[in-house]
Amino acid sequence: MILFEFAKRAYQAAVSPPTPAKRDDAIRFGLLGASTIAPIALITPAKSHPEVIVAAVAARDRERACQYAKKYNIPIVHDTYQDILNDPSIDVIYIALPNSLHYEWALRSIRAGKHVLLEKPSCSNAEEALKLFKHPLVTSPNAPVLLEAFHYQFHPAWQTFLSLVHKDPWQAPVEHVYSQQHLPKGYLSRDDIRFQYALSGGCLMDLATYPLSCVRQVLGRGEHLRPVDVRHRPWPPAPDGSTVEPQIDVGISATYVTDSGKSAQIEGDLVYAGEWSFLPASWFKALPKFKWPRTEATLAEVLVEEEADGSQHCLQRKVTLWNHLIPTIYHRVDICDKYIIRRGGEIVRTFENTTYVKAYNWPKGDERSNTYQEWWTTWRCQLEEFVNRIKGRAGSGVWIDGDESIAQMEAIDETYDQAGLMPRPTSAYQV
Ligand SMILES: NC(=O)c1ccc[n+]([C@@H]2O[C@H](COP(=O)([O-])OP(=O)(O)OC[C@H]3O[C@@H](n4cnc5c(N)ncnc54)[C@H](OP(=O)(O)O)[C@@H]3O)[C@@H](O)[C@H]2O)c1
Repeated sequence: MILFEFAKRAYQAAVSPPTPAKRDDAIRFGLLGASTIAPIALITPAKSHPEVIVAAVAARDRERACQYAKKYNIPIVHDTYQDILNDPSIDVIYIALPNSLHYEWALRSIRAGKHVLLEKPSCSNAEEALKLFKHPLVTSPNAPVLLEAFHYQFHPAWQTFLSLVHKDPWQAPVEHVYSQQHLPKGYLSRDDIRFQYALSGGCLMDLATYPLSCVRQVLGRGEHLRPVDVRHRPWPPAPDGSTVEPQIDVGISATYVTDSGKSAQIEGDLVYAGEWSFLPASWFKALPKFKWPRTEATLAEVLVEEEADGSQHCLQRKVTLWNHLIPTIYHRVDICDKYIIRRGGEIVRTFENTTYVKAYNWPKGDERSNTYQEWWTTWRCQLEEFVNRIKGRAGSGVWIDGDESIAQMEAIDETYDQAGLMPRPTSAYQV
């Protein structure tokens, strides 16, 4: 049954989503770059959205753009990125360029009066993020919509997980959060944009930006994460002994504390490898390995009941979301309650009870579940809310505002600083 449901969701999400007729007032998107991520993040989700048309693309090489347009049925090919911005038939610019170009092209797009769906991370560093999100063109009352595409937050699975943490029946505060994301070695090539400092690459700028965002979401806006221990793995030296991209973190792990005494830990790896337990270690020490994306919140222990003889019944809850990244394929929220009975200060008994929750849609009875579909990917959910915002509709209520995007970039900069790495370079683009 689980396999059948998985196959059905995957088929509808990725292979054959329903394709309703486009409405006359559909929003027309232009793509800057013939990027790898656009088909997953926008082109496929757009098929099932009656108010979205992917109308134009431009690449640095026109021939490549033409091939891309043909493959994905995009009607217009422009010669340059700027030509898309100059096209009055385009309403929204989707920016999936190297991180180093996000700031410049987001501002150029906004100046051209276009809405912007901007890939994460929003900018190269906090300085750029502050300049972008606080720019009068962005903050003015009728400014275009600008969204950093942290798609995972729009899915009901993430929101359900968050509400299980934040609306815990015992009102226990979060004590510790952990989040991880790993990509097996070999998935990315050595010349990928993620491994180039000049293009604002790095694991924390890419894959590990998710765990950082996740722990920040769980701890909440009021908490400033102070990195106390950050370890990164660079590339090994080249065969001639030279250092390869010394500012690039191929993998990173970081521990944070907050002023209110909470803690967080993240792990990310773009080239995850190691031994496979069923093979002799001496054979292969660096085989590609996989780990599920996972976010885990440990709440503080609470006193539930005190008996006449002085024994105390305490409870500590841990809530884990498996696969915050692609929950449509499969995810699970584990709610693990650990009961602790103490007498005279001594623990006399502990036992655990785990319940499981899934949220491919909003809960039954919630109005949002009438619109959302179980096969919607995180990117499809994000597109729904992006369009709702442009059209002035309330939507699901999930949104990522400029202050959040700035705070995320500040957290990245501070983590790099603690790691002894430089923040990613600031664009020379002047407004
Ligand atoms: N939301 C998500 O799930 C998700 C997932 C993956 C990536 N991303 C983000 O999306 C962005 C693009 O990632 P991607 O994996 O799609 O990368 P990609 O395939 O390398 O695409 C990047 C695009 O940038 C353009 N580009 C312009 N100047 C470039 C330069 N100097 N060097 C290399 N490329 C240049 C290229 O466009 P031309 O076609 O014009 O040559 C290329 O199509 C990144 O910001 C990344 O963090 C988001």
